Amino acid sequence: MKKALTIFSLCLMIWACGDKESSDPADNNMVTACDSITPNYTDNISVVVSNLCTPCHTTSSEGGINVSNYNNTKAAAQQSRFIAAIKHESSAKAMPQGQAKLSDNTIQLIECWIENGFPEN
Ligand code: HEC
Repeated sequence: MKKALTIFSLCLMIWACGDKESSDPADNNMVTACDSITPNYTDNISVVVSNLCTPCHTTSSEGGINVSNYNNTKAAAQQSRFIAAIKHESSAKAMPQGQAKLSDNTIQLIECWIENGFPEN
């Protein structure tokens, strides 16, 4: 009985950890980093998307992604394929399309904006 209980709680632990990893795109290092990196939409994110994602994702919403204003950008960034696209992960189309990958700093800025709950300003 004791053994069965141990195995059961072990499975539970593994399941819990596995679940956390898949639902939380941030690893622990990034959570720590995002304590000191606190980008907001008005000062940081709008500049990035209007420089790098227009016109494809403003006037026309390619791939169903629109970054023309705060609410649209937030809705887009809430989808896991958003980060996957800018990190050139295999689960999404690499963005910005036909251009170089964003710098690590810019990607981290966007990740921390998401991690910190999409502050507007
Ligand atoms: C030159 C035009 C162009 C630029 C610039 C561009 N995109 Fe895209 N994007 C597209 C097109 C076209 C699609 C749809 C691709 C498809 O479905 O085949 C797309 C799709 C996407 C998708 C959905 C990917 C998927 O796999 O479902 C995301 C997320 C995305 N773009 C984000 C961005 C972001 C963020 C930027 C700026 C950093 C950006 N894009 C810049 C043209 C562009």
